[in-house]
Amino acid sequence: MSEPKALIRPDRGEDAIAIHLVNKDGFEAFAKALTAGQRASLAAQKFEGGGYQYAIIPEGDSWFVVSGVANPESLSSWCLAKLAEELPEGVYRVATGDPGPAMFGWVTGQYRFSRYKSEDKGPGPRVLLTGQVGQIDGYLAEAQAECMVRDLVNAPPEDMGPAALEAECEKLAKGHKAELTVVRGDALERGYPMVHAVGRAASRHHAPRLMHLVWGDPKHPVLAVVGKGVCFDSGGLNIKPGAGMRLMKKDMGGAAHALALAGLIMGTRLKVRLHLLIPAVENAISGGAFRPGDVLASRKGLTVEIDNTDAEGRLILGDALTRASEENPDLIVDFATLTGAARVALGPDLPALMARRDETAEAFLAAGKANDDAGWRLPLHEAYREYLASDVADMANSASNPFAGASVAGLFLDRFVGEGLDWVHFDTFAWTPAPKPGRARGGRGLGLRASWHALRARYGT
Ligand code: BES
Ligand code: ZN
Ligand code: ZN
Repeated sequence: MSEPKALIRPDRGEDAIAIHLVNKDGFEAFAKALTAGQRASLAAQKFEGGGYQYAIIPEGDSWFVVSGVANPESLSSWCLAKLAEELPEGVYRVATGDPGPAMFGWVTGQYRFSRYKSEDKGPGPRVLLTGQVGQIDGYLAEAQAECMVRDLVNAPPEDMGPAALEAECEKLAKGHKAELTVVRGDALERGYPMVHAVGRAASRHHAPRLMHLVWGDPKHPVLAVVGKGVCFDSGGLNIKPGAGMRLMKKDMGGAAHALALAGLIMGTRLKVRLHLLIPAVENAISGGAFRPGDVLASRKGLTVEIDNTDAEGRLILGDALTRASEENPDLIVDFATLTGAARVALGPDLPALMARRDETAEAFLAAGKANDDAGWRLPLHEAYREYLASDVADMANSASNPFAGASVAGLFLDRFVGEGLDWVHFDTFAWTPAPKPGRARGGRGLGLRASWHALRARYGT
């Protein structure tokens, strides 16, 4: 796709094709003001003012666009996205008001993952002009963060292994003058034994690692951001069936969210001391793989019996959350493609949110709702803790019953989050299975904008 920066520009009165937004109620009045020929053109295109409907109307030697929206006074992120995807290359402006949040969808609507296509590099840019000059940078930054999540998730697993995630952290650290520490391979055995155990079966060039990036004024409150970086999840010895494994390149989606969020935080100089922690592994199968029945040590000191090697994300996150807690953070936010159960409960569009404190959960949910990135809260129900009991170790990594899988995974993580700390956990799908305007099939941010706006409100820039 084109550089997001090129897709939205301040309106300096240059020539541009007009976009008129109407809803079903306003449609008649709009049509009345047109010529008979223009009305005929509307009818021929079966335009009636419904959402995502649009028509191209001739006017003299040129043409303009009319598009249906639910409410022309209050635009959503996606209401211009279909136009951005389908209109010809060119320069446009909304004639009937300001685009506002629709700037986000204007950019993400033009997202394509064409790196591996030999010839098809896609259509040229559709540029949107706006008089809301002060809003351009903010929406562009969010759109860029979203495109980063998609690019990282869409990349094939051979090209987006633990080393590639490390390279992404390094790029981010260099760009924002942050400090990056990386613990790799067998060196993990001491500080991050569960990261080591999950990642040790992978080939040498996909060796496991733990990235720890630190940025910002030490006087500001500590914010820890953690992301599950399972670069490919075969399930391990509890191997996944083919259909379940097919999309598991996206199992580093949590890491992609964490990296993109860290980019927004540093790019806008949020008033925090940021600790970004990314455990990165491939959950592979080889003679050295960890096994059901193994008992792992953890950074926290708890022993964990492996009930199922496919419940690997919670293991690597456990050590990372312990490390995050050692900074005595004001807040920990983690992102993970953690359970199929969260998808069964909420489907692909709604990330599951779990939190210790009601106020924090509500702040994140409200920020999501207000920014077209809604989530839904699931409980960390104390009574289910016993599902993780083990006969031989302090706890097991999965339950022997099928109940409340997302909550049980959340309760597992909870054991590794320092006592009393404020913590939000997103069990996100990181994927669009069926495309919608602005959301191509493939990698997707879910919970990213919710988190970004909640953090901005909490800490300020
Ligand atoms: N990465 C998967 C979870 C997943 C699967 C997310 C499909 C999105 C779509 C995770 O590592 C996993 O396999 N979880 C198991 C846990 C179970 C063994 C307790 C699951 O959800 O089935
Ligand atoms: Zn798994
Ligand atoms: Zn996984």
